[in-house]
Amino acid sequence: MESIVVKGGRKLSGEVVIGGAKNSALPLIAATLLAENGTSDLDNIPNLRDINTIVRLLEGMGAEITRSDNKLKIMTSAVNDFQAPYELVKTMRASILVLGPLLARFGKARVSLPGGCAIGARPVNLHIKGLEQMGAEIEVEHGYIIGQAKRLQGADISFDMPTVTGTENLMMAAVLAEGITHLRNAAREPEIVDLAVFLRKMGAQIEGEGTHTIVISGVEKLEGTDYRVMPDRIEAGTFMVAAGISAGDIIIKNAPLAALGGVISKLQEIGISIEPLTDFDEDAILAGTPVRVRRESLELHSLDVKTMPYPGFPTDMQAQIMTLLTLAQGTSVISETVFENRFMHVFELQRMGADIEVEGRIAVVRGVDTLSGAQVMASDLRASAGLILAGLAADGETAMSRVYHLDRGYSGFEKKLEALGADIKRIST
Ligand code: EPZ
Repeated sequence: MESIVVKGGRKLSGEVVIGGAKNSALPLIAATLLAENGTSDLDNIPNLRDINTIVRLLEGMGAEITRSDNKLKIMTSAVNDFQAPYELVKTMRASILVLGPLLARFGKARVSLPGGCAIGARPVNLHIKGLEQMGAEIEVEHGYIIGQAKRLQGADISFDMPTVTGTENLMMAAVLAEGITHLRNAAREPEIVDLAVFLRKMGAQIEGEGTHTIVISGVEKLEGTDYRVMPDRIEAGTFMVAAGISAGDIIIKNAPLAALGGVISKLQEIGISIEPLTDFDEDAILAGTPVRVRRESLELHSLDVKTMPYPGFPTDMQAQIMTLLTLAQGTSVISETVFENRFMHVFELQRMGADIEVEGRIAVVRGVDTLSGAQVMASDLRASAGLILAGLAADGETAMSRVYHLDRGYSGFEKKLEALGADIKRIST
């Protein structure tokens, strides 16, 4: 097993480069299943456990994939197996993203139901309901979703609530369906825009991505193409908090600022200065911009945070901003409206001296003067990042176990922090 050990007190300085977005790369890789012929060349793919999992998943279906540095060359013309086995899906829920493409291109799929995870039950009923509206026959038995369809038909689908992978799955199902599909109350995340741009380059007809309603006109076939994944807005937001909590002063080389609106305004209100180093287009949500991030005031200011679907404050930044607020002056109220159990990091922060009270989906955070280093345990991907951020500011040493949670979504996180001056290392225990 591995742990990450960090000694607090260092002020971060220097430059960090943000990698490609995990939550864009995963649907983009799944979308290559839609290409009848031709190769898809994807660039800026982050080096993550979850990427390794979806690559293994597609190779198991017969896709030919070559990898060099952060590039993937994917050929799916020879795909002849339409299954996503439990052994792989249980390690990564996002495997559900192959369901839409498999039904669209091959008319059949057998995908393990993704289990829940630490942050919630994570049902996929909205994915299934939308596909059935498009004419797929779906059975759920023995823990598998078994689907088939002669040819999916366009449909008018309205999601009960915005679902990121649900919107992505139905987009990928609709691009080869017969007729027009409306996705209403669609999720608006930047990663969905990234996927739509890629699908359009493959030959799909899509409009409205990034708004509540996406309209897709099915086409006969799609071709492989090349594409560069957008920068990871959550990794960028995590490093912004790292600069703030360590009272540092860093340059983030390619932060997708236009995709971080809700995060930037909150961090500035808390007392972190975030200055773009070049002009940037507020509408260019897929572009990266160099930005200088530093603690502006000696004190951090408390404030209330409510996680919401994009463009609201992202749930994937909740653990990180909570960690920052444990050291703010005053009391902050954090409402986690997206997932039902995304406060697992609270118990570990309390062991470090944080004053937090949880009532259902509300956490009340009363600022303390210092945190103290402790042995802590990661519970999920973003909680693990939050605990390391706490260690950067804590008195003494913090040792975090279950590092595999971190490696699912952050590539070389401790190495990037070490390069910024943190006293941090990964040890085998
Ligand atoms: C995506 O998960 C992300 N994962 C998550 O990132 C992110 O936290 C989440 O969106 C919210 O932004 C990927 O993109 C791979 P949802 P997803 O469907 O699509 C309910 C990370 O840290 N729901 O938008 O699974 C659901 O229970 C991960 O990188 C249904 O009820 O999230 C939740 O309460 C963690 N039925 C809400 O909708 C469904 O069929 C939003 O979930 C689907 C969702």
